[in-house]
Amino acid sequence: MYVCLCNALKCRDIKSAAENGARDAASAFKACGAKPRCGRCLEEATRMITAMGAAPAHMVPAE
Ligand code: FES
Repeated sequence: MYVCLCNALKCRDIKSAAENGARDAASAFKACGAKPRCGRCLEEATRMITAMGAAPAHMVPAE
């Protein structure tokens, strides 16, 4: 299923990015070589990444 129609990103693309360290939608898009356009998918992408156990970026302690 497509998550982002503008960039043709599917669920597996976002999940793969999260498994490889993406902790928010912006880093997931970057990992996929894409940039958000309309932004309609960001809420769903963020929900997927958070559901996979990634803490939202603002909650990850700085190293
Ligand atoms: S649907 Fe993802 S940027 Fe438009």
